Amino acid sequence: MTTQAGMNEPVISLRDVRADLGSRPVLRGIDLTVARGEVVALLGANGSGKSTAIRTIIGQVPASAGRVELFGTERERFRDWARVGYVPQRTTAAGGVPATVTEIVSSGRLSRARFGVLRKADHAAVRRALELVGMADRAKDSVNALSGGQHQRVLIARALAAEPELLIMDEPMAGVDLASQEVLARTLREQVAAGTTVLLVLHELGPLEPLIDRAVVLRDGCVLHDGPPPKAVGQHALPGHDHVHPHEPGPPRTGLLG
Ligand SMILES: Nc1ncnc2c1ncn2[C@@H]1O[C@H](COP(=O)(O)OP(=O)(O)OP(=O)(O)O)[C@@H](O)[C@H]1O
Ligand SMILES: [Mg+2]
Repeated sequence: MTTQAGMNEPVISLRDVRADLGSRPVLRGIDLTVARGEVVALLGANGSGKSTAIRTIIGQVPASAGRVELFGTERERFRDWARVGYVPQRTTAAGGVPATVTEIVSSGRLSRARFGVLRKADHAAVRRALELVGMADRAKDSVNALSGGQHQRVLIARALAAEPELLIMDEPMAGVDLASQEVLARTLREQVAAGTTVLLVLHELGPLEPLIDRAVVLRDGCVLHDGPPPKAVGQHALPGHDHVHPHEPGPPRTGLLG
């Protein structure tokens, strides 16, 4: 771990952040703090503002009011993006030019490479990231030849290749089968054990539940809950479902399908 000024600062700090999209208020005054080493889940119904909050943090959406800080630095002045790994919410649209798995993951390493040239240590980091997500045997394949879940693993490997101190993932489990979910959970567990700070958007905690320190639930652009993860975050526990009925004992809940 690097010893730098601002060690005790939160890794992410949002204070009364507002954001508008297409003249519509989407974030209506959000506070969110993620301390070093913490694993925070951002939960909430579709359209509640989770992705917008994430995109405000990484600078893809401007805040119309409030303050966003990364590693104790105002986001506008933050330049150290090699410390941040970001896995965007997966879109269904396929990209243009087909790239290989190795090319995609290597692109995540460019922020660390001197003059944009990958050296031995960089190639090793790319290989390590691919091994972590169980995709080393597909390194030379075109990403077009992958399933949705495999593609998602490659995007996660790309973020891990930079060996970030802060990992931000928007619904990494969406559309991913149970086997891949377990690979991702194991990968995340290793990152967390190594001290990585994690903020991730989830629809439910699923197999990641034991890793989550704190949950922040959004509703309609506001923070509804910030504290221990809600016990049963299935469809029924999300905002919009006011009565939470206890789950019958039965087969173990299996993440997205549970
Ligand atoms: N580019 C945009 N222009 C206008 N409105 C937008 C834009 N992007 C998102 N929105 C709106 O902002 C609100 C929040 O969207 P956001 O994507 O942050 O929600 P979310 O919580 O991530 O939802 P999901 O669970 O479906 O991913 C939604 O009502 C959405 O329609
Ligand atoms: Mg979203």
